[in-house]
Parts: sequence; structure tokens; C-alpha cells
Amino acid sequence: MFSSRIAILGAGSVGSAIAYSLIINPVCSEVLLVDPQTEVRDAQVEDLGDASFAGVRVRAGTHKEAGQCSIVIITAGAKQRPGESRTDLLQRNLNILHSAIEDMKPFHEDTVILLVANPVDVLTYFAQQMAGLPKEQVIGSGTFLDSTRLRGILARKVDLDPASIHAYVIGEHGDSQLVAWSTITVGGASLENELRQRSIDLDRKAVAEETRDKAAKIIKAKGATAYGIGGVAAILCKSILFDERKVRPVSHWNEELQCCLSLPVVLGRKGIVRNLSIVLVEEEKALLEKSAGTLRGLIATAGG
Ligand code: 2OP
Repeated sequence: MFSSRIAILGAGSVGSAIAYSLIINPVCSEVLLVDPQTEVRDAQVEDLGDASFAGVRVRAGTHKEAGQCSIVIITAGAKQRPGESRTDLLQRNLNILHSAIEDMKPFHEDTVILLVANPVDVLTYFAQQMAGLPKEQVIGSGTFLDSTRLRGILARKVDLDPASIHAYVIGEHGDSQLVAWSTITVGGASLENELRQRSIDLDRKAVAEETRDKAAKIIKAKGATAYGIGGVAAILCKSILFDERKVRPVSHWNEELQCCLSLPVVLGRKGIVRNLSIVLVEEEKALLEKSAGTLRGLIATAGG
């Protein structure tokens, strides 16, 4: 059995969905839930413990213990309200982030911080400034979730397994995101080619909008998203802990664009192993620069 520990800050719906994903497909030996609301935290620990009676150990933990774990997942923050954008949450969540990071410091030198709270790209940037860890070890779930949503939608349109479609949403995990259409491949062939061969008329604009707006639609109906992010966060943890070298679009510091945003990178035990040079067409490059501009603006507004 593995001897790694993962701490989750925030025992709300997102934190507990991530914990559940981590114990159902075990990738670590212990999950620590950290939350100042001890009653809810302890109830989640009890409930999750029932789901994992002979597998991954789930227990309450402190911030100090979290700072020594292999991975710290930060979900703690105010929830996005119906109609509220991810960026509206910024100031509220920056304060929460700051005190959580101070409480966890100093981090173990191998700890990887995975931001999940929104606005994830901006919080990833500030967490990098605050944590005192190499930037490669402080990443955000970013558009990995949007990319899985896109793959699911495309899979239905072309009647293929989503895992056989290589497609990325890049940029902000938010309204300025874009689909890197020109890079999508199916079994080594371009999506373009697949669509032409099979005479499928794809409304790209509608697909991109459905992908972008999926979270808002779910939030409107049930108040929050949880299982999607729970699943993708657990996949990211596995990629990190098992040093899998999987290509994932996660939020990371981009020197050229001077902000944190998502582009496909290689993930390993110390976070980002290396960047990939994705080749975009001019229109996509312009949209990516625009998305970066939005994020740089938000960072500046928040005093970064
Ligand atoms: C999501 O995309 C709200 O960021 C969250 O599900």
C-alpha cells in the first residue's frame, strides 16, 4: 500500500467529493480533512470513513499537518452563488487563502499544492507568491475540468470514447477560456478530418458555449458543482503521486503570458515537469492572449 497523505482544506461539498473520489479509487494511504468548522468536518470524516472502512484512512487534520502532506488540495473558500462569476469570489477567497497558507507554513519541500477554489487561476498565482515553494509545485485544477467536459460533449457528437479524443480547453477556468480547436485529434487524425470523413456538421460555437457554461447551468439548478471537480482532482493527484508524466491542462505560471492559466503540461511527482509547446493558429493565439489579459487585470485589481 502507498504511504502518501493528501490533505484537503475545506470539508464542504467540493472537499468531500474529492475525498470520496480519492478513497473509491485509492491513490494514497491517508486523507486528512482540514476545516475550522469542526462539527461538519467530523461528520464528513465519519461518513467518508464508512465508505472506506478497510481502505484509505480518513481523519481530521490540522493546517500544520497539511503542510507536511504529499499534496494539499485547497477547496476552502466562499461558494459561487447562482449568477455570480468566479472572479466575484476573488477578494473573499484571497483572504481565506492567505490565512490557510500562513497556518500551513513551512511546507515540506516535496509538497504539491493543488488549488481548486475559484477564481482558480488568480488564486494559484497568489498561492505561488505566498507558499515559499517552487512555482512548479503550486498548480490549479484550471481547465482540466472544462477539457473533460469538452471531450464528453465531442464524444457524444462523434460517437467515440472521450478518452480517444485529445481536446483541450485552455486559458482561464472561466468566461475567457477557449477551445484549442486546431489541436484536437482523434486517433492521430485531426478532428477536422474525422468530421469531414463522416459528414458531421459540428457547431463549434455551440460546443464551446456548452462547455464554458456547464458549471453555471449546474450551479443554477443545484447550487454547486462537486462530483466533476472531485473526479478530476483525484485524477490529478494520481498523476502527481505516481509520477505518471501525463499531459494535463492545469493552471500554472506562464512566463510568456505573465499570469497563471491552463495550457497542457507534463505532470509528475514535483508538479509541473515541463511545458509543452502547443501550436495554435493566429485566432486562438489572440484569444489566449486576451484570456491572459483578463487574468493579469484581475491579479492587478487584487494587488498582485
Ligand atoms: C466548476 O467548473 C464551479 O469551477 C467549478 O465546476
